[in-house]
Amino acid sequence: MKPPRKLHIKSYGCQMNVYDAQRMVDTLAGEGFVETDSAEDADLVILNTCHIREKASEKVYSELGRLRVAKDEAARNGREMRIAVAGCVAQAEGEEIIRRAPTVDVVVGPQSYHHLPQLLARAKSHGRALETEFPVEDKFGFLPPPKPAAIRARGISSFVTVQEGCDKFCTFCVVPYTRGAEVSRPVAKIIDDVMRLADNGVREITLIGQNVNAYHGEGPDGRTWPLGRLLTRLAEIPGIARLRYSTSHPRDVDDSLLEAHRDLPELMPFVHLPVQSGSDRILAAMNRKHTADDYRRVIDRFRASRQDIAFSSDFIVGFPGETEGEFAATLALVTQIGYAGAYSFKYSPRPGTPAADMRETVSAAEMDERLGRLQELIDSQQSAFNKAMIGKTVDVLFERAARNPGQIVGRTAYLQPAHVMASPDIIGKVLPVAIDSLERYSLLGELAGASARPTLSTLSPMTDSSQVNAGA
Ligand code: SAH
Ligand code: SF4
Ligand code: F3S
Repeated sequence: MKPPRKLHIKSYGCQMNVYDAQRMVDTLAGEGFVETDSAEDADLVILNTCHIREKASEKVYSELGRLRVAKDEAARNGREMRIAVAGCVAQAEGEEIIRRAPTVDVVVGPQSYHHLPQLLARAKSHGRALETEFPVEDKFGFLPPPKPAAIRARGISSFVTVQEGCDKFCTFCVVPYTRGAEVSRPVAKIIDDVMRLADNGVREITLIGQNVNAYHGEGPDGRTWPLGRLLTRLAEIPGIARLRYSTSHPRDVDDSLLEAHRDLPELMPFVHLPVQSGSDRILAAMNRKHTADDYRRVIDRFRASRQDIAFSSDFIVGFPGETEGEFAATLALVTQIGYAGAYSFKYSPRPGTPAADMRETVSAAEMDERLGRLQELIDSQQSAFNKAMIGKTVDVLFERAARNPGQIVGRTAYLQPAHVMASPDIIGKVLPVAIDSLERYSLLGELAGASARPTLSTLSPMTDSSQVNAGA
């Protein structure tokens, strides 16, 4: 038997890239590849790239510089290393990568990675291969062949893509160009994936999409199902304790989604709902097609459907022409809503987007200053939200052994990490925890009603699984 070939994959960007990287591993497992932590030892290195901000895209070329050295070293030792660039930079700048980086063997866009085995073969016979074709239909298995590999469980919590692409065209954003038009997977395929994951021990599913609540997939009844209906169906699958979805857009919040929050205990009361700015003039220039008041009303509707619901968001500071007064409107919105957490970014002009041609720029110093003020406000809201957990008893889904011996870590409904001393057989269970303190971002507590404490010998080591957030 041939020894397995080693695959190293490095992913940047959003949750969908994390998911796509796992799918690439699943696809290449069929070709005899096993994952390795070290790029130097790998027979194939894949960079799964992100194009969202300049800093993210520039990382690719510096990483390729390092990989070239490793590839040359491997060649000196008589070993062949192949390098592939996947993800959104591959989609946006595929030709340029081929031109600028002779070390790259394969360039593959986010809609074509299930063709990796064929592309590697093509690179072997023809030298190099580039594939950045749409449509996404192909990847979602509508068209034979090849079909994507079956989804594999990894731990307690899993992402499942239900929707990909975006038709919104915010003026600052590359996603509609790198991920293409909005496409929803049929309900039956999603149910198959979730059942398969549940059978293999997964207890929490996060449905992901660039615009997940624009979901409009074909149902088994031949009708178009909205996200709320899909969630209601998935909640019936045995073994699924928790459902989440990300990232949603304020314009696509419909009654089915609010009813799902009202009716489904499995649906977690924590919603990532990016708003970007609190100024109506800036929102219009961003082509968000909603005002700050529209957003406030959406938040109110969520709160009316479930009173313990909490929110996170994304913000951009220093969008072209943003005045101090317009930035103050963002601070006012944040103050009024009260977030459990949020991501904030300095505006980064992206080639090919309409905002990149806007001339009224905000100075770097001003952007830094505004980002600092916004982050300070968000941090204070986040820490108040976390501190409010102390003294409460909250449900935690336990995921794995923590670094400290004897401790098991899980997450609350609001994705806060929570640590308890307990036996590893609580992994995969949702149990009430009495929270007694907060250490940085982690809650510490005791199983409510817990009696026996485990001894060290009953602990089994588990691998780390980290959560990644949208474009963070
Ligand atoms: N599909 C999601 C998020 C896409 S990208 C949505 O519509 O909300 C994640 C975040 O990156 C965005 O919400 C935005 O805050 C930020 N972002 C996108 N383009 C950016 C740019 N050109 N400069 C700075 N931040 C940007
Ligand atoms: Fe689409 Fe979100 Fe990008 Fe706007 S910010 S274009 S909604 S992905
Ligand atoms: Fe692409 Fe996700 Fe980045 S969609 S551009 S990898 S944030």
